Amino acid sequence: MRSPKLSLCFLVFLASYGISCCLSLGDVCRPKEHAALFVFGDSLFDVGNNNYINTTADYQANYSPYGETFFKYPTGRFSDGRVLPDFIAEYAKLPLIPPYLFPGNQRYVDGVNFASAGAGALVETQQGLVIDLKTQLSYFRKVSKELRQQLGNAETTALLAKAVYLINIGVNDYEISLSENSSNSHTAKKHVEMVVGNLTSVIKGIHEAGGRKFAVFNLPAVGCVPLVKGLVNGSKGSCVEEASALPKLHNSVLEMELGKLKKELEGFKYSYVDYFSISFDVINNPSKYGLKEGDVASCGSRKHRGNNSCGGRRAVKDYELCENPNQYVFFDSLHPTQATHHIVSQLVWSGNQSIATPCNLKSLFQS
Ligand SMILES: *[C@@H]1O[C@H](CO)[C@@H](O)[C@H](O)[C@H]1NC(C)=O
Ligand SMILES: *[C@@H]1O[C@H](CO)[C@@H](O)[C@H](O)[C@H]1NC(C)=O
Ligand SMILES: *[C@@H]1O[C@H](CO)[C@@H](O)[C@H](O)[C@H]1NC(C)=O
Ligand SMILES: *[C@@H]1O[C@H](CO)[C@@H](O)[C@H](O)[C@H]1NC(C)=O
Ligand SMILES: *[C@@H]1O[C@H](CO)[C@@H](O)[C@H](O)[C@H]1NC(C)=O
Ligand SMILES: *[C@@H]1O[C@H](CO)[C@@H](O)[C@H](O)[C@H]1NC(C)=O
Repeated sequence: MRSPKLSLCFLVFLASYGISCCLSLGDVCRPKEHAALFVFGDSLFDVGNNNYINTTADYQANYSPYGETFFKYPTGRFSDGRVLPDFIAEYAKLPLIPPYLFPGNQRYVDGVNFASAGAGALVETQQGLVIDLKTQLSYFRKVSKELRQQLGNAETTALLAKAVYLINIGVNDYEISLSENSSNSHTAKKHVEMVVGNLTSVIKGIHEAGGRKFAVFNLPAVGCVPLVKGLVNGSKGSCVEEASALPKLHNSVLEMELGKLKKELEGFKYSYVDYFSISFDVINNPSKYGLKEGDVASCGSRKHRGNNSCGGRRAVKDYELCENPNQYVFFDSLHPTQATHHIVSQLVWSGNQSIATPCNLKSLFQS
């Protein structure tokens, strides 16, 4: 068996006779029906772009113990192992999708990942330290031009229309608020409109460049993460509801705007992923998902290990690390473990309408 790839491709060829499946691009076999994956967002989806920019340890995870479970070395992912785009790529029968800034990478036919830890939909968010969403869009435009040179116009247009655009952004555009009714003010509403407005204008930009299928995550239950629990003296386990008020407002505006885009944009398909409800449920009922600890992070210091000191490269140098992150919802004070990413990936891939509306990621890929 000189090439297992080739025989796999041959099977695909048999299964879809009449369609030539093996277009050779380099040494790689590419089925025509494959849908590429382009990823935009923040630390939840960053697979190492921030390793290649001038930033601080706050926005990087390229040191131990990040990566310890799966890769056995730090890759830049804010987790002990794989993150959601890695699992989605696997389910979609794609290889691992590399970070856009990975030196020397010129292969875009399976997609590429633009996400950057700390980034927001607003250019001002952590400006100068992250790759903001508008810049991520400009990188995507470069990629689409590069593809047109490599594959020609017709094939690129088909590839971009068939691809899925996975987006998670916005949590970094808000300050964590612990005060009651923080989402009721006029200023808060204007701010949310501005954040969602910038997100939808990037979606329109991707659509203009040829994208059609969008999977958009809403914001998580911010009041339930160890970092926020560590800021207050609440009883063990309870979420800080005030901190989730702005994310909830953001989510309701985002869902409405996606509905509008559906009417406005030609061929627009989407999946609105209710990451808020998923994260709330996994954190508060870990045993339902085969996990043990939803309240304390695997890695960090102080209460709930809520101080973001994992790895000892940020403000606080001392940190604790649990033995078995597989039992924890959170790896550091803000970011899920690989185990959680795996659970969430399965839910968003094939879950029902309580997880993703109007369709899940599997049907988006197959559409
Ligand atoms: C990176 O940022 C630091 C601090 O902001 C600055 O001193 C340094 O010159 C920058 N390096 C490059 C290569 O831009
Ligand atoms: C917050 O809003 C609730 C319901 O809208 C109201 O009952 C409560 O008095 C408000 N609290 C403050 C501090 O404004
Ligand atoms: C996007 O954000 C900028 C601030 O960075 C704001 O001035 C602009 O109005 C926003 N755009 C939309 C469409 O909301
Ligand atoms: C939490 O409790 C400690 C002592 O138990 C107190 O010093 C601190 O001010 C409290 N913090 C908040 C935010 O209530
Ligand atoms: C972590 O601890 C440092 C030092 O006490 C403090 O400055 C920082 O605000 C803390 N961060 C969090 C998220 O609690
Ligand atoms: C979705 O599935 C869950 C169980 O996974 C079930 O409790 C719920 O009723 C289902 N919701 C819908 C809208 O079908």
